[in-house]
Amino acid sequence: MIGLLPEPLEPDWANVLAEVAREVRLPGLDDPRLPGHVSKMAAVYNDDRLRGLGGSREQLAARLSFWFPRDVPKMAGAARELIAMGRLRIGQATALRVLDVGAGLGASHRGLARALAAAGGLGTVDVLAVDDDRDALRVAAAIAKKRPREGAVDVRLKTEEASFVELVKRPPRGRFGVILVGQMLSELDLELDEAARVELHAEQLAALAREALEPDGVLLIVEPALRPRSRHLQRLRAALLQRRLRVLAPCLHEGRCPLLGRDTDWCHEDLAVDLPPFLQPVAKKAGLRWEGLTFSYLALSSKPPRLVDSLTAGPDRERAVSALLVSKGKRELVVCGDPLRGDVAGDDPLGPHGARIGRLDRARSEVNAVFDDLGRGDVVSLGPLDEKLRLGPDAPIEHLSARVARVD
Ligand SMILES: C[S@@+](CC[C@H](N)C(=O)[O-])C[C@H]1O[C@@H](n2cnc3c(N)ncnc32)[C@H](O)[C@@H]1O
Repeated sequence: MIGLLPEPLEPDWANVLAEVAREVRLPGLDDPRLPGHVSKMAAVYNDDRLRGLGGSREQLAARLSFWFPRDVPKMAGAARELIAMGRLRIGQATALRVLDVGAGLGASHRGLARALAAAGGLGTVDVLAVDDDRDALRVAAAIAKKRPREGAVDVRLKTEEASFVELVKRPPRGRFGVILVGQMLSELDLELDEAARVELHAEQLAALAREALEPDGVLLIVEPALRPRSRHLQRLRAALLQRRLRVLAPCLHEGRCPLLGRDTDWCHEDLAVDLPPFLQPVAKKAGLRWEGLTFSYLALSSKPPRLVDSLTAGPDRERAVSALLVSKGKRELVVCGDPLRGDVAGDDPLGPHGARIGRLDRARSEVNAVFDDLGRGDVVSLGPLDEKLRLGPDAPIEHLSARVARVD
């Protein structure tokens, strides 16, 4: 893996959340009704037909005590590779200006601040959190007041109540080093058909990036790892490329997305980050999982360098976009990156940038042993493959986690 695995929130966050809940008069972590509120909120998040039912006090309580601490590591996970390559950084001299769009309770900017701090960052993130939900912003402000620091990173927060459409029409003054859009697109324009929705979101995000990002600033979008939401992000990627944004990560190429060819595929992360122990009882009672962290993300900018530009090994750089597929006598992996297969038929579902590669167990050797440990999201350099796209005993494979050159 490139960059640092995000850390779940520390145990003392349970006190922070409890104090904020008391201050804003919401049921807290120890309230026996909380798992019920969390379970209802999960139904709203997972079912588009229930959208728009958000906004009650019970749902805000569930968001504060469960979804906020659950979601903070997502943006940290999305930022980790750009931080490792120095594309996202913080300095002591000037604050990093962050626009958090659809900020809710602030999980996205908190995740970014934590990822910067974990990587040794020292300085201030100056956040403007925008949302059309005034109550959510009030809770975000209370959290930032109670916890104004992550490691050596200060979190300075201002909030503004506005809708996404208003923000795009009238962007805030000054430019931002980072625009975060955390799990908001899922909530927008669900009445439109998918093609119109992609065009609208691409138009809005490209306009916001043009008007509000610094020339080398980064637009970082996170979505839930649900199939339709992730596929929307993948379609948006193509529409944003047409609007001259560059894709920094996770993709290592700017060609056709291999995972859009088949309806059953979707590109997402699955990191080994569990819920903090203080949340696990709530998750269990609410019937939700507490193991693993899944999300989809896309990092864009008008300027390179992209993640692939900072990888010092090559020539073939690939990202695993499936888990390791183990069957009798072989292991396989779907990878995405540099074309591995020469000419492919136009109707090939994976297209030129995707391939299902493998290694027979009997071909396992010291040079390709890394294959055993690969998983979704890993970035590798591959030796030559045979005509069945398999690694032979002499074909090396290298994990590129240590092959990232810093661009700063
Ligand atoms: C699921 S929450 C995500 C919160 C946070 N960004 C995160 O990553 O966890 C979605 C947020 O988007 C906000 N939102 C939804 N539609 C919006 C709109 N049209 N304009 C502004 N904010 C909106 C909601 O109020 C909510 O706070």
